[in-house]
Amino acid sequence: MRFSSLECYGIPKTVVKIWETRYGADLLPLQERAIRDYGVMEGKNLVAMGATSSGKTLIGEMAALQRSCRQEKTIFLVPLKALAEEKFRVLRETYGQYGIRTVISHRERREYDGNICRGNFDIAVLVYEKLQGLIIQNPELLREVRLIIVDELQMLGDEERGADLEMLLTQIIRESRQLESKSKPALQLIGLSAVLGNADEIANWLQAGLLLHPQRPVELRRGILCGTLFQYHETNSGKIGHEFFVTKNDTPESADSSIISESPRYPGMDPYHRDKIIETSLYLAEKQNESCLIFLPTKILCRQWAEELAERSSLPPAGETLVQLEQLEESAARNILMTTLKRGIAYHNGDLPYDLRHAIESGFRKGEIQILLSTSTLGQGLNLAARNTILIPEIYRYSHRTGGFLSQSIPLYMLENQGGRAGRLGYAEDFGRMILVAETEHEQTMLWTRYIAPPMESRQGKVQGLPFEPVCSPLKEQNWDSHLLRLITGGACANSKDLEETMTLSLSGWKLNPREILEGKTLKIRIRETLDKLIASGMLIPQPDGTYKPSPEGSITASFGVQPETVQWIQKWISGMDGQKYHPAEILLLLAFTPDAIANRIPVREPEIRTNMLRFRFLKYAEDWQLDIHRLILPLLDQTPLHPKEKAVALKKTLVLLDWISEIETADLETRNNLFIGTVRSLAEDLAWLVQTFAGCATLHEWNKETIQSLDTLTRCLRHGVVEKGLGLAALPIPGWSRNHVHSFLRTGCSTPAELRELPLEIMAQRIPSPLTIRLKEYLDRKPVSANAPIPFPVTTAKDRIVLTGRPIKRRTLSIINGKELEIPNAPYLVFLKLGRMLLQEKDNFPKGGWVNRDELDPSDHWRAISRLRTILHPHLLDPDDPVLENDGCGYYRLRIQPKQMTIDEKEHDQHWNHQFHPAVNPNTQKRSA
Ligand SMILES: Nc1ncnc2c1ncn2[C@@H]1O[C@H](COP(=O)(O)OP(=O)(O)OP(=O)(O)O)[C@@H](O)[C@H]1O
Ligand SMILES: [Mg+2]
Repeated sequence: MRFSSLECYGIPKTVVKIWETRYGADLLPLQERAIRDYGVMEGKNLVAMGATSSGKTLIGEMAALQRSCRQEKTIFLVPLKALAEEKFRVLRETYGQYGIRTVISHRERREYDGNICRGNFDIAVLVYEKLQGLIIQNPELLREVRLIIVDELQMLGDEERGADLEMLLTQIIRESRQLESKSKPALQLIGLSAVLGNADEIANWLQAGLLLHPQRPVELRRGILCGTLFQYHETNSGKIGHEFFVTKNDTPESADSSIISESPRYPGMDPYHRDKIIETSLYLAEKQNESCLIFLPTKILCRQWAEELAERSSLPPAGETLVQLEQLEESAARNILMTTLKRGIAYHNGDLPYDLRHAIESGFRKGEIQILLSTSTLGQGLNLAARNTILIPEIYRYSHRTGGFLSQSIPLYMLENQGGRAGRLGYAEDFGRMILVAETEHEQTMLWTRYIAPPMESRQGKVQGLPFEPVCSPLKEQNWDSHLLRLITGGACANSKDLEETMTLSLSGWKLNPREILEGKTLKIRIRETLDKLIASGMLIPQPDGTYKPSPEGSITASFGVQPETVQWIQKWISGMDGQKYHPAEILLLLAFTPDAIANRIPVREPEIRTNMLRFRFLKYAEDWQLDIHRLILPLLDQTPLHPKEKAVALKKTLVLLDWISEIETADLETRNNLFIGTVRSLAEDLAWLVQTFAGCATLHEWNKETIQSLDTLTRCLRHGVVEKGLGLAALPIPGWSRNHVHSFLRTGCSTPAELRELPLEIMAQRIPSPLTIRLKEYLDRKPVSANAPIPFPVTTAKDRIVLTGRPIKRRTLSIINGKELEIPNAPYLVFLKLGRMLLQEKDNFPKGGWVNRDELDPSDHWRAISRLRTILHPHLLDPDDPVLENDGCGYYRLRIQPKQMTIDEKEHDQHWNHQFHPAVNPNTQKRSA
């Protein structure tokens, strides 16, 4: 079928042209069947279960474009932020010029929420939970939409999020039925998935046609690597075949047809087969020039393996990505990536902030990054340029029972979705590979039987889908408090009859009538009990006419999408508080104990739990701020009935966030708390949400306006990671602008964009990298700065006087700062010495010279030594707000003093026991080009 034939469905010629330019003349077979056989352009519901990369997204896009030409709106639901951003970017790039208004919303992107609630869009890309929140704010929203596309429909079975998705779909079904009963056209639903076990049941539930299409446009070899032999089954052809991968450590003789070249030394000692996977991916990337995406079960493994791969790799550096990263906020994660990217390697997980993840994804798409290690963050839906995926058949799941993570075998549906990132149409032509690694013959047989062996039918020549696990909704087992409360608050249901009707439409309640048994109770009894509970906890108020209304607390619970217990906890404490201004430490500690905050899990080390050190650190903080610990802090710590580990986690979260809203630099914050910035941001986002919930409750208690405003300020500080004074600058919409930059400008006395505008260019350039200076200047002046205009080098210098004596004192070395002796540990001292030597070496080039590349400062661990030096010097400077250590944001550092203010006793250094300090060791360091 040709795109041009879609004109008969009301698709304008221009749109057809757009598709032809992007895809060529023809639709893919799956897309053709959806239109020809399943009436997707005639408003029919559809569940499309097509193999990975079979082109499911375009089915939704075509229907959405048809709708928009009739002035009808579409909502595109996806499970992940990364996926929402990818869809948003593609839709904007493809149809923006034609005039289609695409908007996006998830927890970190709220700028279009107003437009969505006003119906000011054609296609809205939303993360599932976001739609639920918007419906409660604006119950009319569903009535304004004609088409809903649900991507990754298998998420219905997700333990954490499946029940919410099921309830959302139930509301959509109900809305659609109501429209039909009024003889209006129903809402159209299109569900997309590659991996639904019980697709027929789901399609029946949604009253949708079921389109099964197991063929991929690009062949996928799914197989097991054991020794040198990769034995595979081809998805499309059904062929079983093999290849040999002869890696560095394999002898050529081992490349024969035997399955295992050598019996393993210690079977089971390395359950993830790290060495083999590292070797294989290097072989594929270096020898075969093929990209590899490796999925690992934990964040730590991603980082560690990436570092190890980088040490062993001889791949070329990922040049453009490195340049991009130079301009992003300095953080521990960024610095690790800067090292691995020099060898063509990267990792991607929840520890990375969004802009870093985005840079890594695009570097992998460009082919610059040849080996990428990821947790499940890249595991579904995304179009990546992987020729190979290498998988570990294991996942870690949080267990509420044990309070820890347990490892389980990966379900087939998840494995297939991850494996399906290889061999994507548009990135690969002949085939992709999904590789599992086995060490022994026994393991190979097990993996083959469980994950690879084709189903019986396909052995007889017919290609069939894989036997994925059926999607089982967790709704049945969960308590229904939040779900029923949301239905009532959003106006979808008013009484028990409405609730029964609605819950009967859910997948769990479907096919049941209210008298049948559901998990040991009839639907009716379950609803009755939940309503009683909500009434007893003050969330619902029964009305004389038999209907229910949410109490103010109930409304807050439903509209903020938090658990009823969270609001109850806040209410319990707030009623004893006097409504006066509270310190962020008190508010954050109180909120860190709510069930919603507890659900956001961060790692805490064993000694932090055992030694009570977090409690001491917190009480010290309270003392420094002269807080009255008896009014809230001690009662919270002593009266909360939680396990010591959970208390430690709550304390750690509070301390991390107090650092986050202070001027402490991001890299130092990460080191000090042993957490990466991506984790901190996500925590801050969650707590900001809870502070807003708290403000909602405080309003109910008629707290004064000023106090409520201070809560709003705290929310904004948490979102941006800045001190209150920095809020004026924090929201500047400039790529690469970070909290460190905001704080650095605050120290110059600028706290508003207007004050920043007055700042001379050279002072700006002294604080932030050159490209960012240009972007900032252009934004502030609303006119372009010529890209060629050289940014003047700063001429202002600090007044401090420094002597590096080279005299060892045990494991430290003596320096004299402004006349005072200071013993500095050797790693930061070496950084200091290198910078001092460069300053003197280039004294004739002052004030342009003195820069040293960070790799030369401390190749193994530069950011830590630099950061330590900065911290050590800070209290001893004449003006602590005028730092002597300067970073140009492009990887170079120098001392911001005049050469005559620096003295180095080279004779003493030559005698130093640490030979690294000898002058001959670093004679000429790399200069920065002007
Ligand atoms: N008609 C077409 N002709 C050529 N390429 C196409 C066509 N339709 C889609 N594609 C391309 O195919 C690739 C895969 O499409 P898509 O992302 O929709 O896969 P999918 O079926 O959703 O896979 P997954 O289940 O992995 O999410 C994309 O790069 C897309 O641009
Ligand atoms: Mg998809």
